[in-house]
Order: sequence, then structure tokens, then C-alpha cells
Amino acid sequence: MSKLLYIEVSPRKDRSASIEVAQSFLTTYQEGNTDSQIETLDLWDFKLPEFDSDTINAKYSVMHGEDPSPEEVAAWDVISKIANQFKDADHYLISTPMWNFSIPYKLKHYIDIISQPGLTWSFSPEEGYQGLVTGKTATLILTRGGEYTSSAELAAMDFQKTYLEMILGFIGITDVNIVLIESTLDVEAKTESIAAGKEQAISCAKNS
Ligand SMILES: Cc1cc2nc3c(=O)[nH]c(=O)nc-3n(C[C@H](O)[C@H](O)[C@H](O)COP(=O)(O)O)c2cc1C
Repeated sequence: MSKLLYIEVSPRKDRSASIEVAQSFLTTYQEGNTDSQIETLDLWDFKLPEFDSDTINAKYSVMHGEDPSPEEVAAWDVISKIANQFKDADHYLISTPMWNFSIPYKLKHYIDIISQPGLTWSFSPEEGYQGLVTGKTATLILTRGGEYTSSAELAAMDFQKTYLEMILGFIGITDVNIVLIESTLDVEAKTESIAAGKEQAISCAKNS
């Protein structure tokens, strides 16, 4: 049975544009993939561990091939469980608003947890960095209050789309569909933007 992991980032729930569009994706996806399991990860209802000193030392022990201390082993176990839950999926749906030209801190925290040597990427002097989450697909539903696609100057301020594409590629996920919903702070443009986003999301779901 294949598995879709849906990562929900907006705290605005029934007022959220990104969640509304993601729901259109999920309904269509479910209809076309009745044997697929959908797991939802609401980042506002998921207690992520602090990325503290023991965890960082554990990460460096893994990277440098050193023996970790018992504290580091315990910290690494917690991280590994969350990274392995992520890796266990075949498809990903991430719906997120833009916050301060980038992603909300909850999503960055989640990425800091799952982006780990030996779990989602590897490094060797011979091969350099290699993503370990391969053969998967992802759809990103990205909302933003402004418009960042109308000029190169505005596009350069968009660290939401560029960062997510880069970090997913870094861990090996390169088959990525992007649904952009712009100008959501403009009441009239928002309605049109959400409608267009839903059509695009449905089309992505049909092809997933
Ligand atoms: C804390 C915060 C920061 C935001 N920063 C930006 C921003 O930098 N650029 C932008 O275009 N919109 C920004 N917005 C607006 C949201 O991206 C926009 O309202 C989006 O549609 C929210 O999606 P949601 O309804 O799914 O939460 C911000 C909103 C919040 C709450």
C-alpha cells in the first residue's frame, strides 16, 4: 500500500487558504487512490523535540563516524523516529503559507529535525552530498499575501518556494509539483487565486 504524507503548516485551519487548496488535492487523490494511506502531520499539533546540544553532538558524531555518548544516542533515537516516519511515505503534500518571505518556523523546525546525515542525506569525499529520500514525489501548496512572480526583483524575495525546492532536492526529492496561490491579502484576488490553485491542485492529484 502506498502512503501519502500530508504536512499541514498553517495554524489558521478553517480560515487557511493553503489548507483549503490542500483539501481539494486530498479529496481528488483519495478518489483516485483508494488503496493509498493518507497520514496527516499537523505541525501545530506535533511536539517537535528541541534541536539541542545533545542532538547537535549526536549529529556531528554521526557525520564524523565517532562513538556517540548515551545522551547523544537517546537524542538521536528521537530524531531518527521522526525522520523515518517522513521517509516511510511515497508521496508528500506540503501546504504552507509564506511568513516573512520564507516558511513558518514550525516547518523550519521540522526540516531541521528530518534533514540528517545517514537518514535523509549522506556525504562522502568521493561522492559529495547525496539525497537518500529518492523515488518519491511531492506537491507543494504555497500561499502568500503578495505577488512574487511578476518581476525578477520580487522573485528574488521569495525564499519560501526556493528554499523548499532546494531542501527537498538536497534530501533526494526532485519530482516536485508547485501550486502557487498569490495575492491572498487582496480580498478579490484571493478568491480567484484560490479557485485557480484548487484546479491546479486537483490536476496534480490526478497525476499522482
Ligand atoms: C506571520 C506572518 C508573516 C507573513 N509574511 C508574509 C510575507 O513575507 N509575504 C507575503 O506575501 N505574505 C506574508 N504573510 C501573508 C500570508 O502568507 C498569507 O496571508 C497566506 O495566504 C496565509 O496562508 P494561510 O491562510 O494558509 O495561513 C504573512 C502572514 C503571517 C501571519
